[in-house]
Amino acid sequence: MIEQFVILGATGDLTARFLIPALAQLLERGDLPRDFQITGIARDDWDTDRFRHHLADALGRHASGIPDRIRADVVGRVSYRRADLMTPGELDAAFPAAARPAVVYLALPPAVFAPAVRAIAACQPAPGSRLVIEKPFGQDLRSARELNTLVHTLFPEDAVFRMDHFLGKQTVQNLLGLRFANRILEPLWNHHHVDHVAITWDETIGLEGRAGYYDHTGALRDMIQNHLLQLLSLVAMEPPATLSARDLRDRKSEALRAIRQPTPTSIRTETIRARYTAGGPHPAFTDEPGVDPERGTETFAQVTFWVDNWRWAGVPFVLRTGKALATDRRTITIRFRPVPHLAFGQTAPAEPNRLRLEMNPDRLALHVNINGPGDPFELEAIDLDHHLAPHALSPYARLLLDVAAGDPTLSIRDDEAEEGWRVIEPILEEWHRNAVPLLEYRATTSGPSS
Ligand code: BG6
Repeated sequence: MIEQFVILGATGDLTARFLIPALAQLLERGDLPRDFQITGIARDDWDTDRFRHHLADALGRHASGIPDRIRADVVGRVSYRRADLMTPGELDAAFPAAARPAVVYLALPPAVFAPAVRAIAACQPAPGSRLVIEKPFGQDLRSARELNTLVHTLFPEDAVFRMDHFLGKQTVQNLLGLRFANRILEPLWNHHHVDHVAITWDETIGLEGRAGYYDHTGALRDMIQNHLLQLLSLVAMEPPATLSARDLRDRKSEALRAIRQPTPTSIRTETIRARYTAGGPHPAFTDEPGVDPERGTETFAQVTFWVDNWRWAGVPFVLRTGKALATDRRTITIRFRPVPHLAFGQTAPAEPNRLRLEMNPDRLALHVNINGPGDPFELEAIDLDHHLAPHALSPYARLLLDVAAGDPTLSIRDDEAEEGWRVIEPILEEWHRNAVPLLEYRATTSGPSS
């Protein structure tokens, strides 16, 4: 278990909001080594006192359930050093002594991932060190490949953790138990019985002050290229022999490789992009401070993918996400085909079965038809429902624990990151050429009308 954590870009939101609260949670559970230390490095002219103050304040806001004693403990383990990654020599001077292996976390804007890796190389981290990179990993296929090559000059693939916090969500991991520990689903989990799969991540939140990042990223890169394609891979993959990092990621990668390459024609008919106008508490996206309306960034994206293999031939996977929408809806829905013949001629057609995994609150529901309470020849649709237990660990806590322990099972492998770009890049190109119109939807509605 690694004891030394180095966070680059440590004064940003990610550290205060997610990383330090996650480490506090792990400390409370006794999951971290006794001598665990955190070094925060950033360009800001801060000192350790100021940094600790900032983190204590953030823990009060984002981890108030954690006892004061633990919060003080985690903050006491933190030190701060100033360095500008872009100035040669500055990171080497700030980087902790390389006697022990370190986990180096790039909590940085994607544009500086590559310079950061070069600057880390100059620090010669101790053998056994690990690198953690946030998403998006690259901006397109070429840059993702280049970044992989660069990273591999310094770290072997098993020491590289491409973070996708969706993989740290317990309910996402539940997909594995649901699919591979039950006999009853597997015979139905294919094109003979599944009509379509819908993966929906609708959010009511708007930009939340993230224009600097989001206006250069957009919904397709921010959510679909990584998070939602990862969910797709877990739904579509073949059963792995074990849940080892290699077996699980081999199967996911194989599913991603089977996704049909979008063409200009399919992109025109099977993708939607839109951005929100003013509505409810939200100003129009284009009026948000820091947004350049000319960039045409989408805040809503929908794409239909096809997984061209024996199991899934002809089954659409519809991935959709958007901001400033009417309701929070985070669901994976497997919609089955209708029954071949319905003997209940006099009633309305039965709704096809649906298996739905919902997140926030977390719930598993199977939608089935049964006989109605009165007339036995009438049908009633009901949900067999199970509310899933609250997560024992936050997604970041789960993933950071894996990083410290050196287990990359729940991180994105190099080839998976590249496969994601393979299918996203053609869409980005067509959208960039305006081959698909940028629609509008009023904030707080359910998205563009089409
Ligand atoms: C992040 C995206 O990775 O995931 C955000 O950058 C998005 O734009 C968030 O809001 C959604 O994750 P969650 O766990 O809050 O549903």
